[in-house]
Amino acid sequence: MAPSRHYLMCRPDHFAVEYVINPWMDPSAGADAATAVRQWESLKDAYEELGHRVSLIDPVEGLPDMVFAANGALVVGGRVYGARFASEQRAAEGPAYLRWFVENGYEPTMEAMETNEGEGDFLTLDHVILAGTGFRTAITAHKEAQEFLGRPVVTLRLVDPRYYHLDTALFPLDGTNIAYYPGAFSRGSQEVLRHMFPDAVLASAEDAAVFGLNAVSDGENVVLEADAGELALELKRRGLNVIPVDLSELRKAGGGPKCCTLEIRP
Ligand code: ARG
Repeated sequence: MAPSRHYLMCRPDHFAVEYVINPWMDPSAGADAATAVRQWESLKDAYEELGHRVSLIDPVEGLPDMVFAANGALVVGGRVYGARFASEQRAAEGPAYLRWFVENGYEPTMEAMETNEGEGDFLTLDHVILAGTGFRTAITAHKEAQEFLGRPVVTLRLVDPRYYHLDTALFPLDGTNIAYYPGAFSRGSQEVLRHMFPDAVLASAEDAAVFGLNAVSDGENVVLEADAGELALELKRRGLNVIPVDLSELRKAGGGPKCCTLEIRP
């Protein structure tokens, strides 16, 4: 079995689509919190069945996107780099998540000066942190995180508004390799990715559009949106165990499995 991971999650009790901060959100179409909770629970169950530990942060009324825990912070080597949200609507989530870490004894913690949306735009591999910019996280936050965490951070530029966070277009398969959708990145960043990860899994536009790249891998098991069929086949071909989950209700806010998951790396 893959080594056990520790995840922080937030039950979507107050989930709703009430404002528009990405192209997936349509308040007139709405979303159903009860359905979201049921789907979210299947994700939590999947982690626990894999032997991973799940901690919970209390949802806050009036913060409908708080279920997207990935955005709450970036935790590497036990150091907690706090989020500073780009949008007013989500601004209160940053301090709420940071408070959870302080109250649970994590240190050091850092209140970021620079705009960043946590693991939504920072993906950690063994020797490098990949960082997205273009829509949410400021490039200056990449430097701030590098300095605080003591890990090299490589900037990647996102160019398609549907893939506004790095974790909507790329996920680490393990500590050294990734899967990604090239169309989400600038030409230069595509070149950087080809250079760094010649053996990466390249996903199709179809699999990206169902949040197939918003997956969570422990190196052996990949928790993946059930609709990402072609990507699932390729991952299996590479010897990975694929665990399909249906988070279609959360997709109405522009999120998937990874968005709901903040990894706490000791
Ligand atoms: N509605 C949320 C937003 O636009 C969705 C966040 C999804 N989270 C993520 N890690 N991609 O901010």
